[in-house]
Amino acid sequence: MRIRRVGENIHSLSSAELERKLGKLILNKAKRSKVDLVNPEKTFFGILTDNKFLFGLKIAEISPKVFVQRGPRQKPFFHPSAMPPKLARCMVNLARPKTGDLVLDPFCGTASMLVEAGLMGCRTVGLDVKRSMVEGGLRNLRHYNLRSEGMIVADASKPPTGKADCIVTDPPYGRLASTLGRETHQVIKDSLSALQDSLTGGRRICIAAPRSVKASELGKELSLKHVESHFVHVHHSLTREIIVFEMN
Ligand SMILES: C[S@@+](CC[C@H](N)C(=O)[O-])C[C@H]1O[C@@H](n2cnc3c(N)ncnc32)[C@H](O)[C@@H]1O
Repeated sequence: MRIRRVGENIHSLSSAELERKLGKLILNKAKRSKVDLVNPEKTFFGILTDNKFLFGLKIAEISPKVFVQRGPRQKPFFHPSAMPPKLARCMVNLARPKTGDLVLDPFCGTASMLVEAGLMGCRTVGLDVKRSMVEGGLRNLRHYNLRSEGMIVADASKPPTGKADCIVTDPPYGRLASTLGRETHQVIKDSLSALQDSLTGGRRICIAAPRSVKASELGKELSLKHVESHFVHVHHSLTREIIVFEMN
């Protein structure tokens, strides 16, 4: 039994106490089971957040090491705007693709999102307005033996692609990645507006943007359903908002 705390939750609630109480409840239900703290056959896992407690049987585990090994500087093509693989994987998960689904990143850069989606068994397609990024992204995908349905030099506000199952993306903020002289706000609005037709009802878009851009409001203006936002502190002048929208 392992309890992990996320956020600033209830300090009066001790993790050890919670683990003990839950362990007792499980042993009461499964009378023939035995506790083995050294080589457990099954591990239960709980995540305590500010307003939720998620609890279940652990069925798989990914070592955090693999994300370090896939860090932006470990890939053949590096650019300082690259998204860390753990956050990229998290964003792909938030968009909820199934195996074989087509994941589109219209601002693909070094292809961090597409590498994670590809390793999860999804098909991928990427757009970037810069040829050098498309070529670099393709090199990174090939490094992991991943093939893409298409890596295309194109403007996300005029996508040449057809239907996709979800969109996972990190548009440029104008610092490390150029917006080609446009406001980030406008780049996001134009691309979301143009890309809406790529998805069917109920499918998801997961997009990262600086908190100050208020991209969740932009999505609402376009009648996208705002499902959730998560905030990731990067440094003193950048907090990323990771936003999930659902198509109506
Ligand atoms: C923040 S970076 C993406 C980083 C990417 N997630 C990665 O991990 O490497 C944004 C990318 O958008 C591209 N870009 C800028 N304006 C664009 C547009 N209008 N359409 C498509 N791509 C654009 C930039 O060339 C840059 O590679």
